[in-house]
Amino acid sequence: MTDMNALLDQMQGKRVMIIGDLMLDHYTFGQVSRISPEAPVPVVEVIREEYVLGGAGNVALNINAMGGQALLAGVIGTDRDGESLNALLRESAVETRLVHADRRRTTRKTRIIANNQQIVRVDREDADPLTESVVGELLEILREHSQDIDIIIVSDYGKGVVTAPLMDALRSLKGAHGRRPRILVDPKPQNYDLYQGVDILTPNAKEAGEGAAMPCSWPLGPATVGQALFRRLDCQHLLITLGPQGMALFESRNSARHIPTFARTVFDVTGAGDTVIATLALALAAGAPLVDAAVLANHAAGIVVGQVGAATPTVDGLRQAVQSRPAQPMATLPGMDETAFAARAVYGARSLG
Ligand SMILES: Nc1ncnc2c1ncn2[C@@H]1O[C@H](COP(=O)(O)OP(=O)(O)OP(=O)(O)O)[C@@H](O)[C@H]1O
Ligand SMILES: [Mg+2]
Repeated sequence: MTDMNALLDQMQGKRVMIIGDLMLDHYTFGQVSRISPEAPVPVVEVIREEYVLGGAGNVALNINAMGGQALLAGVIGTDRDGESLNALLRESAVETRLVHADRRRTTRKTRIIANNQQIVRVDREDADPLTESVVGELLEILREHSQDIDIIIVSDYGKGVVTAPLMDALRSLKGAHGRRPRILVDPKPQNYDLYQGVDILTPNAKEAGEGAAMPCSWPLGPATVGQALFRRLDCQHLLITLGPQGMALFESRNSARHIPTFARTVFDVTGAGDTVIATLALALAAGAPLVDAAVLANHAAGIVVGQVGAATPTVDGLRQAVQSRPAQPMATLPGMDETAFAARAVYGARSLG
């Protein structure tokens, strides 16, 4: 087991590239004291508004908050929301390579919250395929940076950035030592077929279940679902996040462990998945073994679910978290022995026939 404090030191200044769907999260807070005379709906009197980075931008924020250096590639529209997004990224000192797409709105999700309750969400987005020239610019950015980046996160929110040409380009990148950068994917179920052969996939239980076309319910679901995802995608590793159950880490098809959640208090689980993939990537960029990277990611997720909004973990917060919880042996994922045995038995029977 790596010394987690040493790992946190190692993570400082390490670069991680993120490519994916950028979003502007817009919150409108207000109060309701009457029903509209125009229609049977509440009238919200706005008190405060807030804009924050969502999607791939939030992953980049997480990387920087932990002392890493995010390089964010994505697409924005030539509109005011695009400018706001860009300004937020500059404020957070995220290095960006953004492609501007004409006639495409920057994705914005507005939540109207009154008396502490979300009343409605209003989405503005164009999620149809990008034009050839925009895709071409994205591929050019990837090639430009393949020499100085070892880890690439694909943050797929299904808004159009992640396409077959993009994934093909990622898989065929030649890195600094002739080794292609490792590809980590936070998947969107509709795009599963694009993720063939990637290094690590980090679905939540629902997304994993959808990819495997079977329920991923605790305790026996994740083992079976994991096997099915390996069959479908032929990925190297798999990390299924299980919300209150923590995570299932498949180091390989036939070997998986259960890492229970480290969360003490749970306020708001928004963005926990972004924190998981960001921490995992940064720890791997620092040279950590996969198990240690996953344990640290679980610590980071445990911190952010205890905070309000899509929060980010800090290095100090992580140091405290790892200190207050000494390493403990990790259990095999429930159902794993049986399913791995069954998989071997099926394989054995086939190879006999
Ligand atoms: N209710 C919870 N209790 C304890 N830990 C939690 C809870 N929800 C999430 N976590 C922690 O956060 C990690 C990721 O959460 P989850 O599986 O919900 O991802 P997600 O659905 O992708 O999140 P999101 O889409 O909101 O960013 C889990 O592996 C766990 O460590
Ligand atoms: Mg998620």
